[in-house]
Amino acid sequence: MATAPVRIQPKNRVLAWIEERLPILSFLSTHTSEYYAPKNFNLWYYFGSLAMLVLVNQIVTGIFLTMFYKPGADTAFASVEYIMRDVDWGWLIRYMHEVGASMFFIVVYLHMFRGLMYGSYKKPRELIWILGMLIFLALMAEAFMGYVLPWGNMSFWGAKVIISLFGAVPWIGDALVQWIMGDYNPADATLNRFFSLHVIALPLVLLLLVVLHLAALHEVGSNNPDGVEIKKGPKGSRFGADKPADGIPFHPYYTVKDLFGVGFFLVICAFIIFFQPTLGGWFLEHDNFIPANSLVTPAEIKPVWYFTPFYAMLRMIPAKLPGVIIMFVGIAALFLVPWLDRGHVKSVRYRGLGYKIGLGLFAASFVMLGAVGAGLTSEYIPAWFGPTADVTTIENAFGRFWLIVYFACFVGLWAYTYFGWEKTKPVPERVTTHD
Ligand code: HEM
Repeated sequence: MATAPVRIQPKNRVLAWIEERLPILSFLSTHTSEYYAPKNFNLWYYFGSLAMLVLVNQIVTGIFLTMFYKPGADTAFASVEYIMRDVDWGWLIRYMHEVGASMFFIVVYLHMFRGLMYGSYKKPRELIWILGMLIFLALMAEAFMGYVLPWGNMSFWGAKVIISLFGAVPWIGDALVQWIMGDYNPADATLNRFFSLHVIALPLVLLLLVVLHLAALHEVGSNNPDGVEIKKGPKGSRFGADKPADGIPFHPYYTVKDLFGVGFFLVICAFIIFFQPTLGGWFLEHDNFIPANSLVTPAEIKPVWYFTPFYAMLRMIPAKLPGVIIMFVGIAALFLVPWLDRGHVKSVRYRGLGYKIGLGLFAASFVMLGAVGAGLTSEYIPAWFGPTADVTTIENAFGRFWLIVYFACFVGLWAYTYFGWEKTKPVPERVTTHD
């Protein structure tokens, strides 16, 4: 429900004076107590506010880390050790930032999945989805560059592998790689430019995109688990004749609900930070506790878990350029979802069986590709198929199967809805039957 601007006139003379010149209270009221959200939000609606919380955590802890971190190939690793051992509470700040990065991706992946479940990307919310996808790209760049900063051995080799991907670009590939690195290998120049981008440029881009994401959301209003737009009930609403009966003011109803989610989420985060800060190497590779060394390649170079589905797409294709193209198409396809899905029903609750199966397969393919990218399959194949099993052949067959499933979901979504094969259930008129 689009927000109608309200005008607050504070009784306090100082506030009234400010409000006349800068209507900050009116703005806050328009977007909180006067923003009408559907009554039926469920658990899946926690992840937007949690993503904002993690963003704030990353910025605040990042500011403190920057006070002690020294960019430079000779100084970075030692300065991180200094933060961990000598700076008061330095270990806590660093682990909050490092665990925060992984929690960011968990929250954002669940937030995106919610969008797919309830058709939140459909008209009139396509732009919210596109801005979300741009946030996702910026977040991936931010996380990749942050991982390079401690200048551990996985930072070095991860940077080398990922930047070298640009070498696949025809004609200019090699020059492009050198231009990005500022050297022939990841080096001091690389570290300094990544520091500047990680600490200044990308956080600003992220903040701007999040503001636009929310502005676009408040223009058209929130979707909900039923995928039915909120409207006035037959008897009007107890919040006033011109207010939607299917909606409730965001503040205080959802601020309180979100605070409960925040409390629950912080308990989980605290548990990880205090007891398992690297989560057995999943959140922070143990090879990154060894200083960068261009002469010692880690036993297995693999990215942090949140990149592994896309990394698997790259690895499952035998040639470099097609692999890079498939990986980019795998991300680009997500941008197109609002236009691939031609169905008229938003929520999975009322969609055809094909959509439900497709959504399940899509989630499964993402998780399975993640497992392949993380090297889990190669680790377990000898146990499942015997010690003489041909690990590469079995892993490739498995990974390529799920890669085909991943892409088939996008094509299937388009065909299923374009050719009218979908048989939907009747969609209710309103989200609730009570005022
Ligand atoms: C820093 C990352 C992000 C932040 C802070 C953020 C924040 C939010 C917030 C606060 C909401 C409203 C509350 C809610 O519906 O949960 C929202 C809604 C939404 N977001 Fe995000 N978001 C982020 C990333 C993304 C991404 C990556 C996507 C998808 C590509 C996305 C797609 C959407 C959509 C479609 C809605 C509307 C949902 C609805 O009305 O049902 N967001 N976002």
